[in-house]
Amino acid sequence: MTIEIKDSEAIEKMRIVGALAARQLEMIEEHIKPGITTGELDRICHEYTIKEQDAIPAPLNYRGFPKSICTSVNHVVCHGIPSDDKVLKSGDIINVDVTLIKDEYHGDTSKTFIVGKGGVLAERLTQVCKESLYLGIQAVKPGAHFGDIGAAIQPFVEKNRFSIVREYCGHGIGKVFHDEPQVLHYGKKGTGPELKPGMTFTIEPMINAGKAAVKLLPDQWTVVTKDHKLTAQWEHTIAVTETGYEILTLRNDDTIPRCA
Ligand code: MF3
Ligand code: CO
Ligand code: CO
Repeated sequence: MTIEIKDSEAIEKMRIVGALAARQLEMIEEHIKPGITTGELDRICHEYTIKEQDAIPAPLNYRGFPKSICTSVNHVVCHGIPSDDKVLKSGDIINVDVTLIKDEYHGDTSKTFIVGKGGVLAERLTQVCKESLYLGIQAVKPGAHFGDIGAAIQPFVEKNRFSIVREYCGHGIGKVFHDEPQVLHYGKKGTGPELKPGMTFTIEPMINAGKAAVKLLPDQWTVVTKDHKLTAQWEHTIAVTETGYEILTLRNDDTIPRCA
């Protein structure tokens, strides 16, 4: 397995596309209200990507995916397909996952929004998921190992009595959408390849309120929790720097420093 090391020119392009992806998630927030459909959210993001950002929505036609973003509501873990039949209601949680291509490079990021007023479980699950991502990010520095990321996430999630989806993971990213290595959200410190400056990858924990088990629906995309309990996800695209990490998809609502 070889993990690509990007030069400063490539990192600058990753920074640009990462910022576009971040701006898109900031843009969509005001539209996430009871009554809107996930199909409408997809159209808004698609138009914005093409017309305002002069970028390409990477999911569209990726391995046959039919839409420009993924919208995963309540018990949908990931890869939910936007639909004009799916109307959001107060108390729902929805992960919006956007991936853009600009100048050949990919920026991939997602967050879970609460629609209207959320219940106690929805609030706690989304908060724990976001904090688990931040813990994973803070493990990123040269000389650390990929296993250190999962080792930072897992005990925190399990202490909160939630479970971590095993079947899907973060990934190397650059000109390739899903590149090596796989970035697991559980595991042991000191395992896996060593992190080096210039590596870029996502961390994207999927955290379930109930059991970890998931299943794939017959549409071959939508992943749901087997027990139909709530699930949340949070994702950033990260670069390893000489001193630590840089979050390439940082938003104005993030509460972690861009670099360390
Ligand atoms: N953005 C997702 C990820 O985080 C991948 C979506 S692939 C799609 O890796 F085809 F479902 F869009
Ligand atoms: Co990703
Ligand atoms: Co994504």
